Amino acid sequence: MPSNKTLLMLPGDGIGPEVMREVRRVIDWFDHRRAVHFDVSEDLVGGAAIDAHGKPLSDATMEKAMNADAVLLGAVGGPKWDNLDFSIKPERGLLRLRKDMELFANLRPAICFDALVDASSLKPEIVRGLDILIVRELTGGVYFGTPRGIETLPNGERRGVNTQVYTTSEIQRVARVAFDLAGKRAGRLTSCEKANVMESGVLWREEVQKVHDTEFPGIQLEHMYADNCAMQLVRNPKQFDVIVTDNLFGDILSDEAAMLTGSLGMLPSASLGATDATGRRKALYEPVHGSAPDIAGRELANPIATLLSFAMALRYSFDLGEDASLIEKAVESVLAGGLRTADIMQPGTAKVSTTVMGDAIVRALDKLAA
Ligand code: IPM
Ligand code: MG
Repeated sequence: MPSNKTLLMLPGDGIGPEVMREVRRVIDWFDHRRAVHFDVSEDLVGGAAIDAHGKPLSDATMEKAMNADAVLLGAVGGPKWDNLDFSIKPERGLLRLRKDMELFANLRPAICFDALVDASSLKPEIVRGLDILIVRELTGGVYFGTPRGIETLPNGERRGVNTQVYTTSEIQRVARVAFDLAGKRAGRLTSCEKANVMESGVLWREEVQKVHDTEFPGIQLEHMYADNCAMQLVRNPKQFDVIVTDNLFGDILSDEAAMLTGSLGMLPSASLGATDATGRRKALYEPVHGSAPDIAGRELANPIATLLSFAMALRYSFDLGEDASLIEKAVESVLAGGLRTADIMQPGTAKVSTTVMGDAIVRALDKLAA
């Protein structure tokens, strides 16, 4: 049967291709076992695209991404491309996708699987049952603000500049996504900025409060300085339900939240645009971890974050919540069975390769669907 679900896969660099290979197997599984069909195409991004076309994202790939129902990305970057000019670094490929697709809302759920409470660097009682969601603004702030650059001053000194900038509509639209999600969860939203030192933080706070008062009075809203949030995340992470914050603070706080769950190798993400008139929204799914060039090609990578990102695609782009849950349950059962990639290895568990972890998850899917 022809499929109307188009999926563009961009494996990228480092461990990207190897974790994406495991997603391909799960896609095949859905095809054969659940009759859920995708039109899958694959293309280059990041360093891989630089090597092939001299740029981290070709216009043709950008065009494909614009037309896909969902884009699934592995990771970008690596030492090979570190010394390139800023404007053509691998990371620019990812940033262009986010910006041109207008993916302003980045959802980064941090869930601690029971089997992994001991893999966290925090005490088990601090992380057991943890289920928080960070909503990171993704197309504004200091990542894209101008002026930016490095200039040489008349006295020969150099000066580096980046600009933190937000408009009311940019703040409001991401706040709405966060309030809406909080409403589907425990009904609590923490908004983070540095209103004590930054004007853009003052505006952020005021606008989030306005959206609350006019549209979501039923959600419990709290404002918190981002540095305090960083501290609270390791002190008592379970106090949070949904956190909404800007692009840079979100980048940092989500890495911190990831470690609460045991490893960066566990954390998926969804980046969503606005819903258009036909109800469709552009979307990109990617693991929060990077390209990890130090372990690339050695069968050490944890494919779970990428598999869970695919599960998020099923849920948010294809309205296949049940199928998404199947993947999440399969991951949970494999972890409960004691299989671990190197990053989440614990005494008494069995260390397995990327491929064997993928095998085990496919087998668990078989069992769950039987
Ligand atoms: C992330 C990454 C990216 C970011 C890099 C690779 C550009 O750290 O998605 O969190 O800073 O946004
Ligand atoms: Mg990051």
